[in-house]
Order: sequence, then structure tokens, then C-alpha cells
Amino acid sequence: MSAVVLSPSLLSADFSRLGEELAALEQAGVTWLHLDIMDGNFVPNITFGAPLIKSIRKKCDLFFDVHLMVEEPGRYLEDFARAGADLLVIHQEASTHPQRDLQKIHDLGLLAGLSLNPGTGLETVRWLAADMNLLLLMSVNPGFSGQKFIPQSIEKIRAARHLLDENGFIDVAIQADGGVNTENAPVLAMAGADVLVSGSAFFAQKEYGMAHRAFVEACSEISQKPRPSLSIANQWRHVQGKQ
Ligand code: DX5
Ligand code: ZN
Repeated sequence: MSAVVLSPSLLSADFSRLGEELAALEQAGVTWLHLDIMDGNFVPNITFGAPLIKSIRKKCDLFFDVHLMVEEPGRYLEDFARAGADLLVIHQEASTHPQRDLQKIHDLGLLAGLSLNPGTGLETVRWLAADMNLLLLMSVNPGFSGQKFIPQSIEKIRAARHLLDENGFIDVAIQADGGVNTENAPVLAMAGADVLVSGSAFFAQKEYGMAHRAFVEACSEISQKPRPSLSIANQWRHVQGKQ
């Protein structure tokens, strides 16, 4: 049984029926929800912010995986923690002091992730890995859902997994985000991705139970090393007694 986690991106859901969409995701057996925060500055698009997260937090028990595509994210970490985020992922390219931001996320009691754009190298990962639970490797340039998958991402995931393992960071999970579908999912999982984000491909399916199963089955032959940080994440809300 594969340990790959699917994190559907809310950006591709129907915003006029958010409550129903969340209920349908929980019904479908989804455990994570990817929340794309865009500030119109770091990326050329604006989405939603902490108030939306705060209101949907009351509606569901999904693990909130919050992807901050925001310039100097350190300014907003408390806001997102208070709104109910479980994992906060900052972009290295947007932060002057990424190590400080990652530490601050941990100080707030949340899991911390670092994201790299497709054009950013892995050089800093070695030095920031001790402060992160998850490394997000973008497989499109951030800003929009529905973009074409960048195939070089596969080799980058492989290299990142190797680098993390080689330096003893076996518990740091890798997340792939952008253009992920059931065809490239097994290839990404094989390369070392533990968490797959899917927006347009997932939400294009009418029935989310089937959409979720299709991803799980596509990766069922691939067995990654279990990452304890992820099993914690899967029970996170219960472990923490958060509601
Ligand atoms: C892109 C976002 C992604 C995106 C995923 O900037 O970070 O999470 O919404 O959508 P798809 O799967 O359609 O590429
Ligand atoms: Zn994202």
C-alpha cells in the first residue's frame, strides 16, 4: 500500500458552494486540503487570505496545508496560525530570512515547509532541512492552477530525495505541486514525492471519491519510506485536540 498523500487544491473548487465542496472532500476520504494564498506581488494573481481559512476551519477537519505565495511571509505567520493552518509553507524566493520564518512556524506549534520555484536550485536545502518538515518542489511556476507540468521536476524530486536522505533528513517529506494528474502521479511518487497536490485534474472529476481513489490506485505499486512527520500530520487534528 502506497503512503502517498493527496492534497487537493481548493483553488479549483466551486467557491459558490464551499461548504458542500468541503463536505464532499471529507466524504471522499481526502485528509489534506491545499490552500493557495497568492498576494498579487510574489505571484501575478490574488486568491484569498486568513479570513477564508478561519471560516472553513469551522466547517471541516481536514489537515490544512497552506501554501504561502506571499512576499515576506514572516509578516503573516501568526495570522494564518490563528486562522487554523496546520502546515505553513513559505517560498524561499519570497523570504529574506527563510530559516527565521521556518523557526517561527515551529514556535507557533505548526508544521513548517519550504517551497522552491522550478528555476530555484537545491543548494540551500541542506542548510534549511533541519528546520523543515516538508519540502515543496513546484512543478509549474506559481500563480495559477491549470498550467502544464514541467517535466524536469521529476529529476529535481529525485535529486532532492537523495540529498535529504544522504544528509540524514529522512523524515522531511517532499511535496509536488502543479500540473499533477493520475498519469504523472506514479512517476512523481517513484521519484520520491510523498504528497501530491492536485487542483484542476482532481476537481475536473464530478465524483471526488472516484477522483481520490484514482490517485491512490495510480500510486499503489510504489512504496515510499513512511515519513513519521506525515503520519503525525494525518492524525494531527486529533493528536493536537484542535477543533
Ligand atoms: C500554483 C498553485 C497550485 C495549483 C495547482 O501556483 O500553487 O497549488 O493551484 O493546480 P493544478 O493542479 O491545476 O496545477
Ligand atoms: Zn500550491
